[in-house]
Amino acid sequence: MRTLLKNIKGLVGAFDEVPREVAGVAMAQFPVMHDAWLAIDNGRVADFGPMSEFPGIADWSGLDIVDVDGRWVLPAWCDSHTHTVFAHGRSEEFLMRLEGATYQEIAARGGGILNSAKALQGMSEDQLYEEAAQRVRHAMSQGVGAMEIKSGYGLTLEAERKMLRVVARLKEAMPIPIRATFLGCHAVPPGFEDAAAYTRHVAEVMLPALAGEGLVDFVDVFCERGYFGVAETKVILEASKALGLNGKIHVNQFNDIGGVELCVNQRAWSVDHLEVCSAEAIQHLLEGLETASLEDRSPTYPVALPGCSHFLSIPYAPGRALVDAGLPLVLASDHNPGSAPSGDMTMAVRLASLKMGLLPIEAVAAATLNGAAAMDLSREVGALGRGFRANFMVTQPMEGLQDIAYRFTDAVVDKVFINGEIWEG
Ligand code: NIG
Ligand code: FE
Repeated sequence: MRTLLKNIKGLVGAFDEVPREVAGVAMAQFPVMHDAWLAIDNGRVADFGPMSEFPGIADWSGLDIVDVDGRWVLPAWCDSHTHTVFAHGRSEEFLMRLEGATYQEIAARGGGILNSAKALQGMSEDQLYEEAAQRVRHAMSQGVGAMEIKSGYGLTLEAERKMLRVVARLKEAMPIPIRATFLGCHAVPPGFEDAAAYTRHVAEVMLPALAGEGLVDFVDVFCERGYFGVAETKVILEASKALGLNGKIHVNQFNDIGGVELCVNQRAWSVDHLEVCSAEAIQHLLEGLETASLEDRSPTYPVALPGCSHFLSIPYAPGRALVDAGLPLVLASDHNPGSAPSGDMTMAVRLASLKMGLLPIEAVAAATLNGAAAMDLSREVGALGRGFRANFMVTQPMEGLQDIAYRFTDAVVDKVFINGEIWEG
């Protein structure tokens, strides 16, 4: 199956040599080729170039030609932080928030994550799978071409295994790359004296068992006052390292308790949320970036989740400052039933321009190549390099990338291609 897209108004992310990620000023230089063509062969990007240098078609057999006149082509979104497997929505808690309670107050009353865990423990794996698969398919129809999915609504070995088995089934069944993150330390379940005691159980029993079953790609902790402290986060990061697994850690959502410094020192793969992010935290990330480049490895990626800021009315991660500091900012959805009930990455990109001060091209780079890097997938997705998976979006006709945020409630993604074929949902 071969496809040629021609008369592309702007072809985004087509690199001759795709870098692992783009940081700082390089984000504004994410490639845009005007008036371009893109050739797909057997699910992969075969070639691309400007229309003025189009070499002509030597072999017409089985070739589909799509004239996308006036439209833009972007790499599919790479959503590196989701909680897509969950029991049900928590709209009753949303109403409680509208009636005056805060997210933290609802959690303190046994709502929030513990509420989700109780519901999930009572569901069958098949039922969970069907509902999660529906959410993944929907995210794909909105332009997602790779995603990470966390556990963390099980909080017992059995229920966390059930969640991770659902993610494993999604990996098999879905045509996009999916990464599984074990988030045992999401909240302290009943039956444990405190966070430290539960963390020991996670590190000594749950993590080795689930990693041993091949169900875990990354490990996460909710490092936050009232959940898990820096000491507990360190225990999990060290236990993960011993098993060859990297951490993608929830830090600085409501309070700065020192999570960024710990994660950088422990070489965590990413630090996610950062709504509360001081100049010192940015400094720690920069030091991590420098050490990583000396050691020729990936840095600790800062991941902003603007959908969560929007939905909880909390500050936005300082995206502009993080990019200006030279860091490889990532955007993700945080899709979950409590703080961000949407997996719409286009909305994350819009909010990054409207609320975080990012240029449209910076936001696109953060949600594509950098998102892929935050899942260790940037040799395969997140850009349109030759040989990369042909996972991309064709937009509605647009003046420029700024129209994504300017037309802020329009469905600007017209068609989604996954492995070179139109995704019908
Ligand atoms: O990323 N902060 C921790 N975890 C999720 C929310 C979990 C929930 O409320 O169900 C988040 O915001
Ligand atoms: Fe999250």
